[in-house]
Amino acid sequence: MPLTAYDLTGRTAFVTGAASGIGRASAVLLAEAGATVHCADRDEQGLHETATLIKDQGGTAHTHHLDVTDRAQLKGAVESCGRLDVMAAVAGIMHSSAVLDTRDEDLDRVLSVNFKGVLYACQEAARRMIAQRVRGSIVTMASGAIDTGGPGLLCYGAAKAAVVQLTKTLANEIGAHGIRVNAVAPGWVRTPMTDHHGETQAHTEAFMARMSPLGRVGEPDDIAHAVLHLASDASSFTTGQILRPNGGVAMPW
Ligand code: NAI
Repeated sequence: MPLTAYDLTGRTAFVTGAASGIGRASAVLLAEAGATVHCADRDEQGLHETATLIKDQGGTAHTHHLDVTDRAQLKGAVESCGRLDVMAAVAGIMHSSAVLDTRDEDLDRVLSVNFKGVLYACQEAARRMIAQRVRGSIVTMASGAIDTGGPGLLCYGAAKAAVVQLTKTLANEIGAHGIRVNAVAPGWVRTPMTDHHGETQAHTEAFMARMSPLGRVGEPDDIAHAVLHLASDASSFTTGQILRPNGGVAMPW
């Protein structure tokens, strides 16, 4: 496969969760590969910082201040892109509560952002690509939690497992249009999402690093490269798959 398979010049990508962490790194890398990138997030300030990063490196970025749980907002933003080649549905939230302490509102909130938000992005992107006869690529963001479960991970893990089901189902349903749908399931990545554990932060990171044969935790750029691979022609025969950039970590629980 020639390196030009990673070239996204002339293509348009839409990235949710682009104001921070993995979404930001993905937006910046897709732009570096040549795509015009539409950055969507509910964090307006973060969005502008990402757009500035892209423009500073000579790329083209547009911003959409929206909530991924609002289908109408997402639809409008996706329609404003013109041609759409790549959807990276990255936006998500963390939630931790024991099964016996989990309230209905916790479950509803996490499923709403982490599953429905991804579903809406996939639906709008797929409809657009089919209508435009674009043989596009849709990349969803799952998590290592799909394999391991883990204490406190009921809501988060259930939503991510649903994302995997969505990814495989949609890949089967729209493959005939030449559209590919794949998921990325990262291990522990150093981002604002994993940076609110107070005093336990350093301990947790050291633990996660020890669990990896590579001896380190992930960085947003590690995951962005997985997104780029799945977004580009380098993965042209890959669909319905889960790519696991996790440093080789097998969780002990
Ligand atoms: P982050 O907190 O740095 O970024 C998440 C972004 O999503 C933020 O910019 C936030 O504003 C946005 N967002 C959240 N809810 C939204 C909504 N309703 N509408 C619009 N935007 C919304 O987190 P990070 O770590 O970059 O996570 C990105 C994705 O990767 C998430 O889906 C997360 O579950 C997944 N992931 C992260 C891992 C990690 O270790 N950091 C590991 C495995 C998966």
